[in-house]
Amino acid sequence: MSDYVLDLSGIRKTYRGGVEALKGIDLQVPRGCIYGLLGPNGAGKSTIVKILTTLIRRSGGDGTMLGKPIGDRETLQKVGLLPEHTQFPPYLTGRQVIEFAAGLQNVPSALTRERTDALLAKVWMTESQHRQIKTYSKGMKQRIGIAQALVSDPKIIFLDEPTDGVDPAGRREFRSLVRELREEGRTIFINTHILSELEPIVDRVAIMANGEILGEGKLDELRTEKTGYVVGFEGQLSAKSLSKLQDGDLEVDGGSVRLPSTNALDAQPVIDLIRQEGLVITDVSLKSQSLEDLFIGLVGGGSSPPPVPGNSVQPPRIPQA
Ligand SMILES: Nc1ncnc2c1ncn2[C@@H]1O[C@H](COP(=O)(O)OP(=O)(O)OP(=O)(O)O)[C@@H](O)[C@H]1O
Ligand SMILES: [Mg+2]
Repeated sequence: MSDYVLDLSGIRKTYRGGVEALKGIDLQVPRGCIYGLLGPNGAGKSTIVKILTTLIRRSGGDGTMLGKPIGDRETLQKVGLLPEHTQFPPYLTGRQVIEFAAGLQNVPSALTRERTDALLAKVWMTESQHRQIKTYSKGMKQRIGIAQALVSDPKIIFLDEPTDGVDPAGRREFRSLVRELREEGRTIFINTHILSELEPIVDRVAIMANGEILGEGKLDELRTEKTGYVVGFEGQLSAKSLSKLQDGDLEVDGGSVRLPSTNALDAQPVIDLIRQEGLVITDVSLKSQSLEDLFIGLVGGGSSPPPVPGNSVQPPRIPQA
């Protein structure tokens, strides 16, 4: 079997009304990794996930998931999905949502109870399992959403904007949960436009906009560009030194000076100047391009894509689990 859990070639989607949401996507996702699909609103991220989970049909192209053609029914049993903007029936309890998903995914009833208990514990929802969804915070709903995506013990899990509206503590918990899923040998495919969320955990990313993939690879490979030295110091620079640095086009920000050069020699006069002032150098480091810099470089400054005809058409609401 191919080492890729997902192997897509030339996937296209044109929605009714003529919106070309995907213009020929080639994508290979290795087994057992955390894969990030990044892109601004309207890039086509959810469209890819909907095609792979057969919520919608592709207009062209081919591909395999877990070694079988896209749409293979048996394979879908090994796939978990947390759709974008999921809304569970508000009158169900958290536990019932997971059990309902287990029923839909044909999980044997003998296994459902044990698995639901384990999943509730995994997403820290054991205590609140008997409360109705309508009493949950956004973060709690998302945790139940992730748990129901895991109920079939999937090999690949699609999480579409999983931390939408979740607070920083919740995001942190999410990252540790996703790492745990990878350790269990699963592949986790995450759609997001929140870059900071992925940066600490992703193994590979694809960056897309306007229905096309603009860059793909390991973060370190993509971030080849070093942006320059940063010299950190403690204390207050005199106005004279400050203006000398600023005249030299260096960015001075509180306790650090940022140089637009990756040559260590260029950092020396800055270090000398700071030391002559009697201040302490605390750090000298060569900074790499952040994921955000990379993203902006590929996608362009604006967070929205250029207008596409019919772009105002709302995507369909995904059937709830
Ligand atoms: N049912 C639909 N009918 C027509 N156009 C659609 C439909 N669903 C999505 N689109 C269009 O397809 C394009 C891609 O949408 P998609 O939802 O895949 O983007 P996305 O990257 O997931 O964006 P977001 O970050 O906002 O979730 C957009 O231009 C969108 O307006
Ligand atoms: Mg989306």
